Amino acid sequence: MGVFEGKTALVTGAARGIGRAIAEKLASEGADLALCDLDADWLSDTAAAVEALGRKAKGYTVDVRSTQGVQDAVSAIHADFGSIDILVNNAGITKDTFLVRMSEEDWDSVIDVNLKGTFNFTKATSKIMMKQRAGAIVNIASIIGLIGNAGQCNYAASKAGVIALTKSAAKELASRGIRANAVAPGFIQTKMTDALSDDVKQKMLDVIPMSRFGQAEDVANVVAFLSSDASSYMTGQVLTISGGMVM
Ligand code: NAI
Repeated sequence: MGVFEGKTALVTGAARGIGRAIAEKLASEGADLALCDLDADWLSDTAAAVEALGRKAKGYTVDVRSTQGVQDAVSAIHADFGSIDILVNNAGITKDTFLVRMSEEDWDSVIDVNLKGTFNFTKATSKIMMKQRAGAIVNIASIIGLIGNAGQCNYAASKAGVIALTKSAAKELASRGIRANAVAPGFIQTKMTDALSDDVKQKMLDVIPMSRFGQAEDVANVVAFLSSDASSYMTGQVLTISGGMVM
């Protein structure tokens, strides 16, 4: 019997990378999975991986930026699964460039996916969790939301916003039995970070005390802890997962 037996988890950005690892980790501990992403093909791969672990899985093609689209997806998930016990807001993008070169589109798209997307899913799901008088929300922020980074004003602002949204939601929802926490990963090896140059990667390694990049599973394990009753007296917290890069 896994700790999430009988529970439904909704993971956004679940088609690949960290989102997929989170879906598989929660499924391995007994959760059924509602998987949301823009990418329908890769979503079906994640769904197959979850089903291979013996859990129910269903993919929903949804753009986290769309308030109505998210509301519709959450209603469908509630109807399909009967409850939403865990929400993991993981979908995120980068559009890196220096401030003076950053276009309005670079700014708006990153804020819309990372911050508005998290708002959309948190709002739609917390209405259901309030009726259940139980739920756990875990938002994927970033160390960049804590320390900033040259070339990532849009991303840093979006992730700092996610942290502030997490803390505010935690305060609003605590009395209804809903906890909201965030994780702030450092450099994790995924398609998002594969795009960086070897030079940038080496500079990162030089400032990571553990001298290695993180794996998606390193994040998934902490998300599982924050989703479970093992963290039942924690809300509004931000746990950093960076091999000691930020402490
Ligand atoms: P990834 O690029 O491999 O996966 C992101 C997923 O989000 C993709 O499946 C993509 O299709 C989906 N997505 C993007 N825009 C979407 C939208 N509008 N609607 C629905 N789905 C959308 O990225 P990765 O590395 O797995 O990142 C996951 C999260 O972790 C992101 O929020 C990212 O900011 C965060 N993070 C990643 C770090 C890293 O080093 N890889 C470090 C810190 C945070």
